[in-house]
Amino acid sequence: MNRIFSGIQPSGNLQLGNYLGAIRNWARMQDSHECIYCVVDLHAITVPQDPAELRRATREVAAGVIAGGVDPDRSVIFVQSQAPEHAELAWILNCVARLGWLNRMTQFKDKAGADRDGATVGLYTYPVLQAADVLAYKATDVPVGEDQKQHIELARDIAQAFNSMFDTDFFPLPEPRIQPEAARIMSLRDGTRKMSKSDPSDYSRINMTDGADLIARKIRRAKTDPAPLPDHAEALEGRPEARNLVTIYAALAEVSQETVVERFAGKGFGIFKSELADLAVAVLGPIGEEMQRLMAAPDEVDAILGRGNARAREISGPIIRAAQDIVGFHRA
Ligand code: AMP
Ligand code: TRP
Repeated sequence: MNRIFSGIQPSGNLQLGNYLGAIRNWARMQDSHECIYCVVDLHAITVPQDPAELRRATREVAAGVIAGGVDPDRSVIFVQSQAPEHAELAWILNCVARLGWLNRMTQFKDKAGADRDGATVGLYTYPVLQAADVLAYKATDVPVGEDQKQHIELARDIAQAFNSMFDTDFFPLPEPRIQPEAARIMSLRDGTRKMSKSDPSDYSRINMTDGADLIARKIRRAKTDPAPLPDHAEALEGRPEARNLVTIYAALAEVSQETVVERFAGKGFGIFKSELADLAVAVLGPIGEEMQRLMAAPDEVDAILGRGNARAREISGPIIRAAQDIVGFHRA
């Protein structure tokens, strides 16, 4: 039986890239798999956070995941810090992973920047906690964006090292599941940069809570080039902004980029953008409204997270205890 695990950080401004690259895929997987989804606040505090904002963003991201189609009656959704099994297993895995493996992690190098000695130890060992997240459930498949592939490969190495250290086949080796069509949704202002929650320009992204008018305005103002749409998808090479809008259209309509290009070949971006805006509003409108409703009903979100937490611990508790037995911890 395959088991899915994935996580998302609690930071504000869930955007179209989070939806198309992660949340929509999480929702789809519920039809065929047992799914466990986690708001990873332990990961968030590897860099400084404002406590009140962290708490608010945790609820907001949970609301976004639920509004985006993750059904709390079929899947587990919960908050990482409230399931102590994650931190417990992370310590054991910290004693399996090697410094040399962590030294190769590109996300640490990016996030730590030039002042590496000033980074927290937590930021350094972040990928080991991520491995613990996945392995605490013996998850087999991990849906993530391209940027997380290296971390999931490390989780495989750690699982394998644990198994060989203790001469067991206890942990399955998790597979990264990267969805190619929407792996990278780019900024509306610069087609070479990823659409991101943290971009200072709100016009660079479509937030999951943006209303119809704002979505339409952002798409109208999106950067493009003067040429019309080409008649085949390869001709988008070297036109990053045009390619990005076609990618977004294709992902929202659930068709190939080729189909989009055939339909709009030779047309100007004025027409294309107006149809793209209608499509984006049709897909995101109801999700944004549900997200707003849930954000105004914090008790409902908290009840869902509380139930999810109990179910998560029912699954991970016995796995962690078995791992402790393998390591040789005495239970009195
Ligand atoms: P983050 O916002 O970095 O916590 O990412 C949460 C999830 O959304 C991860 O699986 C990312 O890979 C995915 N994601 C974030 N931004 C984008 C984007 N612009 N395009 C595609 N996927 C994204
Ligand atoms: N590091 C992931 C990100 O930034 C979030 C994450 C934490 C995660 N734990 C995970 C993703 C476990 C998949 C599996 O997007």
